[in-house]
Amino acid sequence: MKSPPLGFGLGLRKEHYQAILDTSPNVDWFEVLSENYLVPGGKPLYFLDAINERYPMVMHGVSLSIGNNDALNFDYLQQLKTLSERINAHWISDHLCWSGLDGVNAHDLLPLPYTAEAVTHVATRIKQVQDFLERRILIENVSSYVSYTQSAMTEWEFLSAVAEEADCLLLLDVNNIYVSSVNHEFDPLDYLNGVPKERVQQHHLAGHSDYGDYIIDTHDHDIVDPVWNLYAEAVKRFGHVSAMIERDDNIPDLSVLMQEYQQMKQISAGVLGDVFTGTQGVENV
Ligand SMILES: [Fe+2]
Repeated sequence: MKSPPLGFGLGLRKEHYQAILDTSPNVDWFEVLSENYLVPGGKPLYFLDAINERYPMVMHGVSLSIGNNDALNFDYLQQLKTLSERINAHWISDHLCWSGLDGVNAHDLLPLPYTAEAVTHVATRIKQVQDFLERRILIENVSSYVSYTQSAMTEWEFLSAVAEEADCLLLLDVNNIYVSSVNHEFDPLDYLNGVPKERVQQHHLAGHSDYGDYIIDTHDHDIVDPVWNLYAEAVKRFGHVSAMIERDDNIPDLSVLMQEYQQMKQISAGVLGDVFTGTQGVENV
């Protein structure tokens, strides 16, 4: 059901375009933000193509709005399909959220109420998307700061039910699980143990902002130890799953980010006893 793992990746960001071409860092793959490349030409596409000649890529979007009530945007889906063919994307992901009402975009990835009705609503739309794209997609857990009184199940039960009903794959964001576990006071290990192992195709790792009473998923800091520790637990449960680091703001030099990249690989190797990549298979350490 799942694609073969690609190893360890980084988010492709414009700040690193030239450094990637100049230094060919030892990165297994890059995750691209789909919306940055849904244009007919220009510099971003030039760099995308040049980097894609050397590295496998996956696509990650923010505009699917899979939880919304308004109609799916098939123009957008066609653009995704065209881009995926251009870069031979290994997979396409977006978030389990809603982001607007009646055509008004909230410009945020908002959590859904965890109800059976919402499961069916979202799963039906994911199936439509998958039919159009002719491939399974990955849906990602978002971090949340609010909850609904209507919710009748945990977040991980909701995520699992959607994945089963839609027959889609999962992108588990370890930082988002940690952030939500602090904000909503649940045990993040319950989350990891509660999702279907066979559907987890990718992990995200990221930094966040800690405001004391609550945490916001800002992707502008180094990854903190509790998130690294939770990543080790995720590797224990899910095994050889492709993982990458998201950094969207306060972006350091590529060489600095590569230190976190190595840490990610070392943690996985420490748990599994091998380093796996998409191109070289598995090496014992
Ligand atoms: Fe993420």
